[in-house]
Amino acid sequence: MAIHVEAVQNLNPEDFMQINEEHVRLGDSLELLCTTCHNLDNQLDCRSCSREKLATCQGRLISFFYNVINFSSAHFKHEESIMLRQSGVTKDDEDFRRHQQAHSNMLNALYEIINECDLLDSRGRTAEAYRNLCNRMSEKFKEHDRMFDGIYLKKRLAEATIQ
Ligand SMILES: [Fe+2]
Ligand SMILES: [Fe+2]
Repeated sequence: MAIHVEAVQNLNPEDFMQINEEHVRLGDSLELLCTTCHNLDNQLDCRSCSREKLATCQGRLISFFYNVINFSSAHFKHEESIMLRQSGVTKDDEDFRRHQQAHSNMLNALYEIINECDLLDSRGRTAEAYRNLCNRMSEKFKEHDRMFDGIYLKKRLAEATIQ
């Protein structure tokens, strides 16, 4: 773990800010999605909403499916390329490989969640698709943040803000 800790802490400010910004954008788009459905915190279905509202929800859901995969895969590649630019980090480095593997597992998990939610939506269970997607994706991103990205980037941000 030591090399990875050092690698992230030694990010130059520009790389660091870019990665941090990408995390914020990802969080914001998930937040926007999860505040779209009015039935996220109950078990009602879309019959409690107007047809216009349902159309908005369905449109946003589908565009989120595409955006989250494109954005996440670009972000993961970006993060990995930055890690590899740090001194002492190679593709064979164990911490780098673990983080890379976590990104690959994460993309597979995102595909799986999206497929299930797409099926729910296509069966007219859009609110359930939202509940399922928001809970599971938030959990996945939080877990990755907790185990890999978050601690060190936040520490680095705190240092950058102080300077
Ligand atoms: Fe990561
Ligand atoms: Fe990340």
